[in-house]
Amino acid sequence: MEKTIAVIRGDGIGPEIVDQAIRVLDKVAEKFNHTFIYGDVDMGGNAIDKWGEPLPEAMLQKCLASDSVLLGAVGGPKWDGVPAAKRPEKGLLALRAGMGLFSNNRPAKLWPQLAGACPLKPSIVEKGIDFIVVRELIGGVYFGEHSTAEVDGEKKATDIMAYSEHEIERIGRIGFETARKRRNKLTSVDKANVLDTSRLWRAVMHRLAAEYPDVEYSDMLVDNCAMQIVKDPSQFDVIVTENLFGDILSDEASMITGSIGMIPSSSLGETSCGLYEPIHGSAPDIAGQNKANPIGTILSAAMMCRYSFDMPAEADAIEAAVQKALDAGFRTGDMMAEGCQLVSCSEMGDAILSFL
Ligand code: IPM
Ligand code: MG
Repeated sequence: MEKTIAVIRGDGIGPEIVDQAIRVLDKVAEKFNHTFIYGDVDMGGNAIDKWGEPLPEAMLQKCLASDSVLLGAVGGPKWDGVPAAKRPEKGLLALRAGMGLFSNNRPAKLWPQLAGACPLKPSIVEKGIDFIVVRELIGGVYFGEHSTAEVDGEKKATDIMAYSEHEIERIGRIGFETARKRRNKLTSVDKANVLDTSRLWRAVMHRLAAEYPDVEYSDMLVDNCAMQIVKDPSQFDVIVTENLFGDILSDEASMITGSIGMIPSSSLGETSCGLYEPIHGSAPDIAGQNKANPIGTILSAAMMCRYSFDMPAEADAIEAAVQKALDAGFRTGDMMAEGCQLVSCSEMGDAILSFL
């Protein structure tokens, strides 16, 4: 097969980790007889420097014209002073919205090799951690109106959180469908004791639950969920939630898997053209030092094969190679443990390639 991939190296550690993922994709292409054609796309801080905006329209078009998009990370202190509407993160949000990617899938799975890096007690870890956060990605407070005005001699800021029924229904269905492919359990997370958006969310979810009687469904308030994730993460299979709650809970979930550097993500809409990126940020403190963990990005490339290219064997091969590199004791600094071998970003790439 021939596939075109828009590649957004981005800022900070973005370029180093994406380079390793591309080496892995090239090896997969060679092994399975595919052709991957890469096209560079500027987005984030580097696009601000080059084009004066975080996502020029032509760059969005390039992504839309590709079979899929691979992204490293964007942002950094260099652009802290940039006006809110032109920040690097705005590029990412515009890309998600422009591509219609309403469904963000973030797996939180504890790799047995990393159990020692999990900050939870062994008695909790023993029960296993393997769930997915399905996060609504192009609605809610992220995309409501943001404003700051002078009111009675002081500044007052407002961010609007809005959800319509169809936005909740389409992500709710992804939640149920995802649960059906796993252990058949769905937890819908909201703040229905306070927010109208959450009360609507819950009503729509209950309507859907009637259509999926085979899925074990429950509601959970977001504050309780934050607590349950560290108290007993084994209770979760699929969590479905709105944009901001999903942002926060997915970071919490990643932490208990040992390292945020390990977690990939997929973002999909109505078509097979998706956006694949690690869930961590651009880590400016270690950028350019060849120290970053490329696994989150490499596993994102595996998800791209699985969900956008319908190449499950290729995805399995990448995941197995990562597994073997961890088994062999290779660790980047973020997940280093006693008795393991500390490797650089590119050496981790070498190790994974050697097992492919
Ligand atoms: C994420 C990030 C982004 C988000 C930022 C960079 C805008 O934290 O992908 O989780 O909040 O969605
Ligand atoms: Mg986040």
